[in-house]
Amino acid sequence: MKIAMGADHAGYRLKDELKPLIESLGHEVQDYGCSCADSVDYPDYALAVCEKVAAGEADKGILICGTGIGMTIAANKVPGIRCALVHDLFSAKATREHNDSNVLALGERVVGPGVAQEIVKIWLETEFSEGERHRNRVNKVKALEDKFAIHP
Ligand code: RB5
Repeated sequence: MKIAMGADHAGYRLKDELKPLIESLGHEVQDYGCSCADSVDYPDYALAVCEKVAAGEADKGILICGTGIGMTIAANKVPGIRCALVHDLFSAKATREHNDSNVLALGERVVGPGVAQEIVKIWLETEFSEGERHRNRVNKVKALEDKFAIHP
């Protein structure tokens, strides 16, 4: 899969640590920055990654900031994005199976690199469970986007 990654100054270290793992699992990483500790704004990086996922130019996205919260809020504003903030292994699996999340958010200040690696591995490996009820609910989430979409 093509995995788009983005982080702010509080998350770029974890992004850079996760890249070799993702590549070793056979995926291609598209890195949209940032790559140093100079202060930047997380919505800019959420947008860069989510535009690629929403356009189908990346299969999934991974966003990292200090808490993962800002990235999650920003990402979920982009139509077509279902971003899950995950800091435990159970949720990593459940959000793929139940929500068909296409973007994963992590907080570098919340989770250590070892747990983050396991989360990423599980999240990338778990398929959406095609059960009728889950499909229905994801479709209802998509309907919310349509309801509030601004039509020029
Ligand atoms: C940056 O200090 C921090 O606010 C940001 O990385 C993130 O945690 C926001 O949600």
